[in-house]
Amino acid sequence: MPELAYINGRIMPIEDAVVSVEDRGYQFGDAVYEVIASYGGKMFCIKEHFVRLDRSMKELHFPEVQIDEIRKAAVDLFSKAKIERAAVYIQVSRGVSPRNHSFPADIPVQVVMTVRKIEGKNPPIRETGISAITVEDFRWGRCDIKTVQLLPNVLAKQKALDAGCYDAIFVSKDGIVREGSSSNLFILSEGMLITHPLTPDILSGITRSLVLDICREKEYPVQERFFDKSELYGAVEVFLTGTITEVLPVVKIDGRPVGNGKVGPAARMFQEGLLGRLKSE
Ligand code: PDD
Repeated sequence: MPELAYINGRIMPIEDAVVSVEDRGYQFGDAVYEVIASYGGKMFCIKEHFVRLDRSMKELHFPEVQIDEIRKAAVDLFSKAKIERAAVYIQVSRGVSPRNHSFPADIPVQVVMTVRKIEGKNPPIRETGISAITVEDFRWGRCDIKTVQLLPNVLAKQKALDAGCYDAIFVSKDGIVREGSSSNLFILSEGMLITHPLTPDILSGITRSLVLDICREKEYPVQERFFDKSELYGAVEVFLTGTITEVLPVVKIDGRPVGNGKVGPAARMFQEGLLGRLKSE
């Protein structure tokens, strides 16, 4: 089935899609985005993704947009592509205008979307777990806004790959463990699941909030609080969460095994719980 792109109302094959060199997303990183996964031909958590997209635009003082129109266009593009298991990428920039730092007056935002096929639900890494490195978090102070300014994330991911690992975990200068390069992070320590609280230093992940929901439903002990690198190293289990990542166990960090170095029962339980949510939505 075709992998499609959308630019301001026009639909075309991805390879034919081009945007202006004066798109502010391209020149200034002045754009926000969402990634929505589909399962069995249905986009998952679509409402939550559009609430976050809308918030990101408002936080950056984008001009008013009809968010429902963008949502309808995304659903329409997805249904035209007829790809059951897809990643729907939505990017909204402040628009196309001659390069100038100040906000351009009276131009519409530029909406770009793609629908691409992604691999099935259970690649082998979910069974074996992954290894990760920690890296210093030198991102800007508003990581709660989902902007396309992802250079620190790109560098962190590549550093992990160059070190023979799968991903990188951001740790602040003063030792607070934040999140993964494109995911949130949970640790299991003394029977308690712990994740960073919602502050401007991390993204309010939709998968993160689903995991917290599952905790409430199952009365699983959980805390949203700060924790440092020594607690990370001492955790019994560690896992990442994200739209494409789902629940991904981390079994080695900075060369040290996490717990017994194997995928643990909590990660499996939350992954199953997440897949259960897919079926019930
Ligand atoms: N990344 N933290 C960061 C820095 C992220 O980039 C993401 C998602 C998450 C998890 O959020 P969610 O559960 O809503 O996907 C946390 C997307 C998928 C990406 O950049 O591809």
